Amino acid sequence: MTAIVAFVSQKGGVGKSTLARALAREAAVGGLRVKIADLDTQQGTSVDWHRLRLSQNIKPVISVEAFATAAQALEAIYGYDLLIIDGPARTSSATLEISRAADLIVQPSGASRDDLIPAVREFHALSKADISKERLAFALNRIGTRAEEAAARIYLQQAGYNVLDGSLCDRPAYRQAQNTGHSITETRYSGLNEKADMLIQSLIDRVTND
Ligand SMILES: Nc1ncnc2c1ncn2[C@@H]1O[C@H](COP(=O)(O)OP(=O)(O)OP(=O)(O)O)[C@@H](O)[C@H]1O
Ligand SMILES: [Mg+2]
Repeated sequence: MTAIVAFVSQKGGVGKSTLARALAREAAVGGLRVKIADLDTQQGTSVDWHRLRLSQNIKPVISVEAFATAAQALEAIYGYDLLIIDGPARTSSATLEISRAADLIVQPSGASRDDLIPAVREFHALSKADISKERLAFALNRIGTRAEEAAARIYLQQAGYNVLDGSLCDRPAYRQAQNTGHSITETRYSGLNEKADMLIQSLIDRVTND
């Protein structure tokens, strides 16, 4: 059985491709056969990163492929333990199709009201479309302080949703890592790697416990 984790959001730039790549890296290091399905055919962020990673000879090699739809990605899961869908922003019909296919749907969100409100609206729309809340989880990204993280976590939980343990702070080193074909768990700073890994491990725990 191939587990399927999808990253979706209404807003752009929230961290879907960032978390998809980090999950792929950590799952691969943990011995899983993993593939990223890049469904953002316009941007191709994960595909581009894959090419860069190969050119820099960074191990482990992670399989990344572009697909136009979730259905196409599902046809290519044979032989993989984990399929990671890196979804496009702002496309509600594609997001629903992706969510129907996935065991776990993760939406990254920042901590501001501007980020939280549309993020909750997106999950409300999915639960209205019969995606069970147990399959939905938020990941907190670009967090500034502990207090900010705690307040955002409470807001999302009170809206009725799971929030993954851990969070990502906003750091140039995370961008620099991805600029060179690395994941956010492969920066030059062990503290930042550990922080990113905590969030990714709570995601992996949630997938493997299902
Ligand atoms: N915690 C962070 N700290 C610093 N930079 C970050 C962080 N998270 C994401 N970024 C940067 O923000 C930008 C957007 O992130 P990413 O591409 O992962 O978002 P996305 O949700 O996939 O965007 P899109 O909706 O356009 O596909 C990237 O340049 C990424 O490197
Ligand atoms: Mg993206």
